[in-house]
Amino acid sequence: MSMEKAVKLIAKVNYVVVFTGAGVSAESGIPTFRGKDGLWKRFRVEDLATPQASARNPRLVWEWYKWRMRIVFQAKPNSAHLAIARLEKEGVVKAVITQNVDGLHQAAGSMNVIELHGSIRRARCTACDFKLEFQEVPLENLPRCPKCRSLLRPDVVWFGETLSLDAWRRAVGEAMRCDCMIVVGTSGVVCPAAYIPLLSKERGALIIEVNVKQSALTSVADVFLKGRAGEILPAVARAILDERCLST
Ligand code: OAD
Ligand code: ZN
Repeated sequence: MSMEKAVKLIAKVNYVVVFTGAGVSAESGIPTFRGKDGLWKRFRVEDLATPQASARNPRLVWEWYKWRMRIVFQAKPNSAHLAIARLEKEGVVKAVITQNVDGLHQAAGSMNVIELHGSIRRARCTACDFKLEFQEVPLENLPRCPKCRSLLRPDVVWFGETLSLDAWRRAVGEAMRCDCMIVVGTSGVVCPAAYIPLLSKERGALIIEVNVKQSALTSVADVFLKGRAGEILPAVARAILDERCLST
């Protein structure tokens, strides 16, 4: 289906929610997980992104996260993040549900962002409830809690862990409420995150997918817009805002 048709459909909806994955940040220079040069092609999940890995070798896990933090702190939001933020400012998009931990939606100006997998810009204490927001990559090999001196860990969700109940509840609420979900740059294979668009679909929402290739979610998409997020989303945003301008 063409972009024009998609925009005509979106013009009729009231509550748009955007659901994003690593692909939305690819053009900001942040590696995805499952692509050709994806992180999970170069590294083993079991060594780096599980509670067991952190218990076994916290130094290695922190080293890997600090390397990823360096990339994230240098990255800038791209035109896809900016277009999504603009659509929120204009009242079209009500929430962004992201699997990303890079904080680039917030950096672009999105206000209502639900981070299903936490944030790489934050650490939390393994013993008390202390959370630390990093402004830059920490220097220590093993960052410790300023309150109780226990080990800190990245405030992200690792494999085998449950999502933050608060984030999950909010995401489900938005998924049930929206009448249109734009799914951007996700392979749609990690659960429970991938259930979010399915939930919206079941509730009758229009599902629009933006991806450079088909994903596990393409079969539920009403509209598949093939291409880079950084090219497609600004075009979608422009068309929606023009359309709204014309109809008011
Ligand atoms: P993946 O790496 O699995 O998928 C990235 C998706 O983005 C693929 O479908 C690509 O085709 C698409 N893509 C790549 N570049 C793009 C571009 N410029 N524009 C549009 N699409 C593009 O990443 P996620 O689906 O986000 O979880 O992965 C889900 C979860 O798996 C992550 O949150 C992470 C990972 O393990 C945790 O760390 C818990
Ligand atoms: Zn502590």
